[in-house]
Amino acid sequence: MSQKKPDYRIAPSILSADFARLGDELKTVIAAGADWIHFDVMDNHYVPNLSFGPMICQALKPHAKTAAGTAVPIDVHLMVQPVDSLAAAFAEAGADFISFHPDASSHVHRSVQAIKSKGCKAGLVFNPATSMDVLDWVIDDIDLILIMSVNPGFGGQSFIDSALRKIEQARKRIDASSKDIRLEVDGGIKLENIARVASAGADTFVAGSAIFGKLDYKAVIDAMRVELTG
Ligand code: DX5
Ligand code: ZN
Repeated sequence: MSQKKPDYRIAPSILSADFARLGDELKTVIAAGADWIHFDVMDNHYVPNLSFGPMICQALKPHAKTAAGTAVPIDVHLMVQPVDSLAAAFAEAGADFISFHPDASSHVHRSVQAIKSKGCKAGLVFNPATSMDVLDWVIDDIDLILIMSVNPGFGGQSFIDSALRKIEQARKRIDASSKDIRLEVDGGIKLENIARVASAGADTFVAGSAIFGKLDYKAVIDAMRVELTG
């Protein structure tokens, strides 16, 4: 992995939050130390589940800040097909990062450019059985690689171990490029495995049920940081 000491980010997924109190949940998890807010968009087509769209993102955007007023990035994970129209809608709704699955786009380079032209950072997401070959051609254009460690569509699934090898390969690709690219992992991240995932090379960790499934979000996030920093 990289020689540089990683600057870790924890990105709680609000998919596991209480939808009846989303604004409060955002505020609580940010006060608990969330670095980013992970926003899982499911369309009941690319994945067999339906979550929320750009109107919810727009409503939450003003609340995505610390008590001191520092903005907390909204990290949109699009599990939708097609990609481009919703990506544009999320850019308008205040997304900071927009990531999509390359197998959901007919023209990956065009989708990346469309996201960046709106002033957002662009990411590519790889499912457990999806090859990363497309990175040969677009790694210089992206800001984030998101490795799925579960099949997309649901929170609360178990971590798939082959993701560790994929994270190692993605880290090699990032280190070989001249770009500053975040390496994020999504699915089944818990206190018990976060250190192992970091050793494989990830620097950004999505966690839904591990955080929102507990009463004390700060205790979980603090404990994750202890695991990460040893
Ligand atoms: C799955 C989503 C994940 C999910 C993670 O499709 O992309 O972000 O919310 O949930 P946990 O952390 O519970 O596995
Ligand atoms: Zn996600």
